[in-house]
Amino acid sequence: MRSKLIRIAKILQVFTEYTRDGWLFLRYNGFSPLEPRDRRLSHKTIIEAHTIEKGLALPEPRPYFGQNKVRALLEMNAGWVPPPGDISRTMLLGALRDYRAAFVDTSPPDAALAAQVDTFLDTQETETAEGGVRGYIEKKSECDASAVAFLNARFSARDFAPRTLEDREIATVVHLAQRAPSQCNRQSTRLHVYRDRARIARLLELQGGGRGFIQAVPTLFVITSEITAWGGPQQRNQPYVDGGIFTTMLLLSLDAHGFVSCPMNLAITHSKEQAIKREGTIPKRERLVVMVAAGLPPTYPFRAARSPRWPTDAICTIHDHE
Ligand SMILES: Cc1cc2nc3c(=O)[nH]c(=O)nc-3n(C[C@H](O)[C@H](O)[C@H](O)COP(=O)(O)O)c2cc1C
Repeated sequence: MRSKLIRIAKILQVFTEYTRDGWLFLRYNGFSPLEPRDRRLSHKTIIEAHTIEKGLALPEPRPYFGQNKVRALLEMNAGWVPPPGDISRTMLLGALRDYRAAFVDTSPPDAALAAQVDTFLDTQETETAEGGVRGYIEKKSECDASAVAFLNARFSARDFAPRTLEDREIATVVHLAQRAPSQCNRQSTRLHVYRDRARIARLLELQGGGRGFIQAVPTLFVITSEITAWGGPQQRNQPYVDGGIFTTMLLLSLDAHGFVSCPMNLAITHSKEQAIKREGTIPKRERLVVMVAAGLPPTYPFRAARSPRWPTDAICTIHDHE
C-alpha cells in the first residue's frame, strides 16, 4: 500500500515539476518583457547576426539574401550601446562588413537599406570586428591518430590530488571548452566554479551523487544555461542540449590540460535546484545542467570504473542497409 502511494506521489510530482519548469521558462525566456533589455537585445543580435554569417558560408550565397533580417538588426541596434564586453556588436559589425563585401559587385535591391548599412558600418570600428566569415579554409581529410588516442583515453575519476585548479588554469581550460558549438552561436552556457572545500561539500551533498568522494573534490564546476538566450515554446529543452555539448568539451579540455574530472548529474527537483542556486549564488535566470568535479590526478596509482560500452551496432542504425 505504502509503495503504491509513493508511486502515485511521484507521478503527481511530475506535474508540479513540469509546471515549475514552465514558469521558469516563461519568466526568463528571451521574449519575456520582464527580462532586461540589454540581455534580450544582445542574445537576439547574436542569433540574427549569425544567420548572416551562416548565409555567407553557403557554397553560393544568394546576393543580398535576408534583407528583412538586416533591416531588423539595424533597427534593433540603432541607438543601443551594448554593455562593455558584450560580443553582439563585434559579431554584427563583422557579419555586415562581410555581407557588404560579398555583394559589392551587385547592385542592391534596396538602395536605402544599403545606405543604412554603410552608415552603420562607417561610423564604427569594423576592421577588427570578429564576426563574419573565415576565408578560404583548406582542410585535408586525414585521421589524426593522437587525437583518436586522446579521445579514447578519457574516463571519469573519483579520486584527485588535493591541489585546486588555479585561476589561470581555469581560464585556459574554459577558453578551450568555449570552442563547443552552440545553437546559432548563442553561447547560453554559464560556469560557476568553487574551490572552497566546505562549500563544495555542501553543494555535492545537495547533488547527492558524490557519496564516498565528496571530500576528495578540489574544484567543482556547475554548468548552467541562461534561459534568456532561449525563446518560444520550441526551445524549451535547448538549454540542456547546448549545456550538454559544452560539458563534453569541458571534460575534454580538462583532460587535454592534464586534469581529471567526473561529470555529476543534476537530475533534481526544483526545490533542490533552488537550494543549490542559493548555496552557489547562481542567478535565478539560469537552469542548472550538470556539475563537474575536477582536479589533478592523484600522485599514486588509482582506480576508475571500467564503464563498458554497448557494441556500436547496438546503438547505431545505418538506414540504407534496410
Ligand atoms: C550527465 C552525467 C551525470 C553523471 N553523474 C554522476 C554522478 O552523479 N556521480 C558519479 O560518480 N558519476 C557520474 N557520472 C559519470 C558516469 O558514471 C560515467 O560518465 C559513465 O559511467 C561513463 O564512464 P566514463 O566517464 O569513465 O567513460 C555522470 C555522467 C554524466 C554524463
